[in-house]
Amino acid sequence: MVRIAIQAAFVAVVVGLASALSIEQRAAPLVKAPLKKISTVTNITNIVAHDNARLSHYFKKSPISELASAPVINEIFSYIAETVVGSQTFNLIVDTGSSNTWVGATTKFVAGSTGKSTGDSVEVSYGSGSFSGTEFTDTVSIGGTGVTGQSIGVAKTSSGFEGTDGIVGFGPVDLTEDTVSGVSTVPTFMQNLVSQGVISENILGVSFAPLSGSDEEDTNGELTFGGVDDSKFTGSITYTTAVAPWWGVSVSKFAFGSTSLGTTTASGIVDTGTTLLYVPTTIYTKFLSTSGGKLDNNSGLVKFTTKPTSNFSFVVGGTTFSLTPTQYLVPTAQYSNWGISGSGFYTYIADGGSEAPNTILGMTFLENFYSVYDVANNRVGLAPAA
Ligand SMILES: *[C@@H]1O[C@H](CO)[C@@H](O)[C@H](O)[C@H]1NC(C)=O
Ligand SMILES: *[C@@H]1O[C@H](CO)[C@@H](O)[C@H](O)[C@H]1NC(C)=O
Ligand SMILES: *[C@@H]1O[C@H](CO)[C@@H](O)[C@H](O)[C@H]1NC(C)=O
Repeated sequence: MVRIAIQAAFVAVVVGLASALSIEQRAAPLVKAPLKKISTVTNITNIVAHDNARLSHYFKKSPISELASAPVINEIFSYIAETVVGSQTFNLIVDTGSSNTWVGATTKFVAGSTGKSTGDSVEVSYGSGSFSGTEFTDTVSIGGTGVTGQSIGVAKTSSGFEGTDGIVGFGPVDLTEDTVSGVSTVPTFMQNLVSQGVISENILGVSFAPLSGSDEEDTNGELTFGGVDDSKFTGSITYTTAVAPWWGVSVSKFAFGSTSLGTTTASGIVDTGTTLLYVPTTIYTKFLSTSGGKLDNNSGLVKFTTKPTSNFSFVVGGTTFSLTPTQYLVPTAQYSNWGISGSGFYTYIADGGSEAPNTILGMTFLENFYSVYDVANNRVGLAPAA
């Protein structure tokens, strides 16, 4: 914590971004940007289908052509960063599971004086959707912090992103490989923040929080660039080496209450773009038999007739992460937003299959744990949310 506080003190910030992005570096507080969570969900089955498509894409790594017939899910449940590209503001999904930044899914991009086409084509598939179009470079800023000459995809066509404008990619740069014609990879927004001297180290901190009550939208998240925000977590951050090509982590010792769910060491991804918490099939099966939960075909989620009382836990980097029932169950106040009718209790814990990666620490986990994506030290950090 002390080391982190010192790092934060050295983070520099862009001032006067509006005045033609003249970059002036100085020691400054940590660079922070607010996030809002939005939901366009009317039926929870769509979220399950969205997440399943995304998960199968992770283990297939399919080229776009193979996914032409995949279902397109236009209902989303996402954290959005208001992102200024040139002089336009776009609502972009914050995604640590992909690395390209692109716009134009809803609001069309109009190149201003700073926007320049590179003439290269760009396409990315996410399993749950895709886009293709042309690469531009332009100024990009989030929460007043930004860069010049950022590669952005400008979508000519896209599917699966209704209600948003695209994505700001916070995944490792290697995930941009072969997405833009004629180049091997394209620098990410975070890499440009470092190379342009806006921040000193490539470290992203992510704070999420559950929607309040029956809200469909809340400003309840925060990104930090260049370090972590000590006020957003408690205790210390557990760091573990990032497992390429994603923000990968090894997850072991799953348990329900005091009952072990198996000794599997699972290949996991910390992913802000997935809603559910996926676990390997063997763990999931034991979880059902231990907890009394059953797969409910109407919702696609595991349902309980009586409210479970045990914690669901697992170990990452030697630390046990426990979710209480309140944390792993869908809040009843959200049922009507999600098209869940009737009684019973539903959990976000879902079957991730047997093929790696089969464990996804998605949004519902990340609403309870602060996460750190540290390229500078090739590690992922997790700590209980404050
Ligand atoms: C739920 O769906 C599964 C898989 O399609 C099926 O095997 C099962 O019988 C269904 N259960 C109910 C209660 O309809
Ligand atoms: C369940 O997890 C919470 C949060 O980590 C913890 O405070 C509590 O002690 C746990 N309960 C049990 C019975 O382990
Ligand atoms: C949600 O969608 C599923 C699958 O299309 C359907 O079976 C179910 O009835 C829908 N639920 C509601 C509340 O509309």
